[in-house]
Amino acid sequence: MQLYEAIHGRRSLPQLGLPAPDASQLARIFAAAGRAPDHRLLRPWRYLVVAGDARAALGELFYQAIAASDPARAENDAVKLRQMPLRAPMILVAVLCQHDHPTVPDWEQWLSLGASVQNTLLALHGEGFAGMWRTGDLAVHERVRQGLGLSANEHIGGFIYVGTPLAGKAAPAEPESLWQVWTPGA
Ligand SMILES: Cc1cc2nc3c(=O)[nH]c(=O)nc-3n(C[C@H](O)[C@H](O)[C@H](O)COP(=O)(O)O)c2cc1C
Repeated sequence: MQLYEAIHGRRSLPQLGLPAPDASQLARIFAAAGRAPDHRLLRPWRYLVVAGDARAALGELFYQAIAASDPARAENDAVKLRQMPLRAPMILVAVLCQHDHPTVPDWEQWLSLGASVQNTLLALHGEGFAGMWRTGDLAVHERVRQGLGLSANEHIGGFIYVGTPLAGKAAPAEPESLWQVWTPGA
C-alpha cells in the first residue's frame, strides 16, 4: 500500500469483528508505533493488549470504576459499561509513560503518544484491520488507571478498538484550507 493511499484510506470504524491481529501482525504494528517522533527518545508510550476474556474483565473494571464514583449511573448503565470492551475483538490501551524531563515537557510527550497512536492506526489499516480511538471519562478515571496496573506517572491516552471492518464509511469532507503562506509583517 502506498503512503498517501494508506493515509487517505484509513477510517475509524465502530463496527469491528474477527479476526483481530495475530502475534506477528502485532509485532509489525507495534514496530510502527515505536517509530513515532520522540524528543530525546524518552519512549513516553507503551501499549496493553486486551483480547479474549480480558475484554470482559475490562468491562467489569469500567463498571466498578463508575460504581465507585457515580452509583446511580452505574446502576442505569451496568450492561452498557460491562459490554463496552466487547464492541471489538481487541483493544489496545495506549499508555503515556510521563517522564519528568528538564527539556521535554508533558505536552510534548502527549504529542508523541498521539503520533504513536496514528502510526498504530495506519499500520492496522495497512494490515487490513481498522482501529477506533476512544477516550471519554473512563480514560481519565483513577480506578480504571489503577485497575490496568499503571504506575503513578502513567496515564491512559486512549482505548484503540481493533478488528476487521464490518462496515466502511465515506471519507470526511476535505478541510477547506489548513495552511497559509506566512507573510512576515502582514
Ligand atoms: C484523542 C482522541 C480521542 C477520541 N475519542 C473518541 C471517543 O471517545 N469516541 C469517538 O466516537 N471518537 C473519538 N475520537 C474520534 C475518532 O477516533 C475518529 O478519529 C473520528 O471519528 C474521525 O474519524 P476518522 O478517523 O475516520 O477520520 C477520538 C479521537 C482522538 C484523536
